[in-house]
Amino acid sequence: MISMLSTTVLLLACAGHGVLGQFVAPPTNLTSKQGYANITVRYKPVPAGICEQDPDVKSFSGYADVAPDQHIFWWFFEARNVDPSEAPLTIWINGGPGSSSMIGLFQELGPCRVNADGEAVDNPYSWSNVTNLLFIDQPTEVGHSYSIPVPAYLDPTSQLLVQLPNNSCPDYASDWDCGTYSYFNESLTANSTPAAAPNLWKTLQGFMGAFPQYSRHDVFFTTESYGGHYLPLFSKYFLQQNAKGVKGAHNISLVGGMIGNGWYDPLIQYQAYYNFTVYPGNTYGYSPFNQSVKDQMYNNLYGAGNCYDQTVDCNVGKIDEICTAADNFCYQQVENLYDIYLERDEYDVRYLMPNPFPPSSYVDYLNTERVQRAIGAYVNYTEASAAVSAAFTTTGDDDRELGTVEAIRDLLAHNVSITMYFGDADYNCNWLGGQVVADHVNATGYAAAGTGFVNISTSDHVVHGQVRQAGHFAFVRIYQSGHLVPFYQPLVALEMLDRVIHARDIATGNTTVTPAYRTKGPKLSSFHEGNATVQFDVTPPDSVYNTTTNLPQNATDASQPPSSSKLSKKSARPYRPARSRKRALMLGQSPSQAQGPLGRWM
Ligand SMILES: *[C@@H]1O[C@H](CO)[C@@H](O)[C@H](O)[C@H]1NC(C)=O
Ligand SMILES: *[C@@H]1O[C@H](CO)[C@@H](O)[C@H](O)[C@H]1NC(C)=O
Ligand SMILES: *[C@@H]1O[C@H](CO)[C@@H](O)[C@H](O)[C@H]1NC(C)=O
Ligand SMILES: *[C@@H]1O[C@H](CO)[C@@H](O)[C@H](O)[C@H]1NC(C)=O
Ligand SMILES: *[C@@H]1O[C@H](CO)[C@@H](O)[C@H](O)[C@H]1NC(C)=O
Ligand SMILES: *[C@@H]1O[C@H](CO)[C@@H](O)[C@H](O)[C@H]1NC(C)=O
Ligand SMILES: *[C@@H]1O[C@H](CO)[C@@H](O)[C@H](O)[C@H]1NC(C)=O
Ligand SMILES: *[C@@H]1O[C@H](CO)[C@@H](O)[C@H](O)[C@H]1NC(C)=O
Ligand SMILES: *[C@@H]1O[C@H](CO)[C@@H](O)[C@H](O)[C@H]1NC(C)=O
Ligand SMILES: *[C@@H]1O[C@H](CO)[C@@H](O)[C@H](O)[C@H]1NC(C)=O
Ligand SMILES: *[C@@H]1O[C@H](CO)[C@@H](O)[C@H](O)[C@H]1NC(C)=O
Ligand SMILES: *[C@@H]1O[C@H](CO)[C@@H](O)[C@H](O)[C@H]1NC(C)=O
Repeated sequence: MISMLSTTVLLLACAGHGVLGQFVAPPTNLTSKQGYANITVRYKPVPAGICEQDPDVKSFSGYADVAPDQHIFWWFFEARNVDPSEAPLTIWINGGPGSSSMIGLFQELGPCRVNADGEAVDNPYSWSNVTNLLFIDQPTEVGHSYSIPVPAYLDPTSQLLVQLPNNSCPDYASDWDCGTYSYFNESLTANSTPAAAPNLWKTLQGFMGAFPQYSRHDVFFTTESYGGHYLPLFSKYFLQQNAKGVKGAHNISLVGGMIGNGWYDPLIQYQAYYNFTVYPGNTYGYSPFNQSVKDQMYNNLYGAGNCYDQTVDCNVGKIDEICTAADNFCYQQVENLYDIYLERDEYDVRYLMPNPFPPSSYVDYLNTERVQRAIGAYVNYTEASAAVSAAFTTTGDDDRELGTVEAIRDLLAHNVSITMYFGDADYNCNWLGGQVVADHVNATGYAAAGTGFVNISTSDHVVHGQVRQAGHFAFVRIYQSGHLVPFYQPLVALEMLDRVIHARDIATGNTTVTPAYRTKGPKLSSFHEGNATVQFDVTPPDSVYNTTTNLPQNATDASQPPSSSKLSKKSARPYRPARSRKRALMLGQSPSQAQGPLGRWM
């Protein structure tokens, strides 16, 4: 319901800016360079203050033209405290499928956050403190990446994009619905993890060729969530391309991979929804279901022809329709029981929906003309691409095993270190499932007698979690953290990255890791947080997350209170937009509706 007041404000805003202002003017003054493998990149230097605040630390952003109508957006930041020409290159991508890597940049580990006033402020825990850092929006149509820019508006009821004939916003679409979006054509993006690998490789070839000064040394690959599918297969593809010795291409010297709350193996991880909520349960003392819901979940998982059986069928026959149907079944009948009965955040069991963390103010920031000009954006920003999510749904990629575990084994055999870390309050890709995935990797020494969990020590002398490590393989559990670990536990996340980069042990950072390195401790991590940080009332939207108390805090009591919000009504939306297929569905889309844009475009 729109109040009279906001309607008036809206009309004034329209009169003030004119109807054309909502569309993105094509960027000017991009520098064009041919990188390796004949990939052209177009970019501009990003001025200080647009994210990175320090004028002595350079930042660039732009596109890699990977196919005639496929342009991949990237944003690079020089290392802050290491000579950038000596620092390694770390790549970050978010998951989804369809989630923008600007989530990682602005809500987790980039050089800035956006405050409630819509201003970029320094993030002292930026991963660029220790490495050159490259964020990539992939596949095509995610975030600022684009196929063909077209004028359109987002129908607020159906959440579908509707194309417009020209850059003019009709009266019936409220002003902020209109913008420049990617034309949705499934053949202009990827519909599966394996299909997405070549364009990420091409993007890296373009970037590394245009910026050889940042690409001379080791490469680290970091990701989250659906990155449990992406990282193992993309990395395997990089190694294959290296081995082929593609003419004009550059070797990607991958040294380490880090995956936060990854979705690796659907058969294991669908079962983990039961483990996390019923038995043995989570470590927050939160056992929410009555017996009838427990039985319902168990039956929907293990009953004849249900989630488990369907997922096995998908991975035996590998037929798109069977995988899509299996995934829909498992999502709706198993995973989603949590949402239906609890109205809790799937990404953080401690919070009811809507969860104000992390704040979404960065979305509006990326949709201002000033910022778009500074970064050379061709299209408006969308946090989650329903088009890409729909494309992946057609192949049931989410329900496929895809050889992720085997690929991790292969990477370890090629001396690439792998760190699987999990915030332990996340239900969506929970650590109990992750632990079973790690067992399946069966890295040398991981299962050996004596190898087990030890506490992680960090410079703040607070124990933020535990690690079980054997050689270059580590499984990490982070306490008091939802899905987005670098948001909830920024210090341990940064120190962990630093240790990986220097081939030091995750536990202390003081020991150089050799193949024979083992942590000695119990096989299981048994610490229980209890329910002290579990919220039983909806957390007020203007709260801030206190990383010391691990509790929400009234913004007015925070040591750096954000001043009153002057953001548009967008920031008041009840749910954050999708950062995964599941979230997209929560916004009221069924997978078939999510394919709507294709129909509408046609
Ligand atoms: C798209 O970006 C323009 C600035 O170029 C902005 O005015 C408009 O509100 C944005 N549209 C959306 C839907 O965010
Ligand atoms: C274009 O870029 C050059 C070099 O970066 C700069 O000197 C010039 O002022 C820019 N022009 C515009 C219109 O932004
Ligand atoms: C790049 O272009 C050259 C000349 O057209 C061609 O010989 C070469 O195969 C191309 N390399 C790649 C990786 O496409
Ligand atoms: C990260 O680097 C900045 C700039 O040098 C510095 O101010 C900050 O303290 C560093 N953060 C940490 C956690 O060391
Ligand atoms: C844009 O398209 C609309 C039809 O939807 C039309 O009424 C309007 O005149 C067009 N505007 C321009 C500038 O062509
Ligand atoms: C999508 O792109 C393909 C390849 O460019 C083209 O053949 C097809 O006609 C396009 N579909 C639509 C609906 O535009
Ligand atoms: C779930 O718990 C059972 C029994 O404790 C255990 O055998 C199984 O490996 C667990 N699976 C997952 C995915 O957590
Ligand atoms: C794990 O690897 C060891 C060799 O390192 C092998 O003997 C054992 O059979 C493997 N276990 C499984 C379950 O694959
Ligand atoms: C690691 O080494 C540093 C510097 O020598 C020392 O202060 C710290 O206590 C050591 N940490 C552990 C866990 O041993
Ligand atoms: C929190 O846990 C304590 C025991 O550890 C229990 O007595 C209490 O009822 C729990 N609170 C809620 C709201 O579940
Ligand atoms: C925050 O504290 C102020 C002053 O104590 C109070 O008026 C306000 O209601 C509180 N806000 C929330 C969201 O709790
Ligand atoms: C978080 O809580 C601690 C302990 O109460 C307090 O000292 C600190 O100032 C709080 N942090 C912020 C940002 O308000």
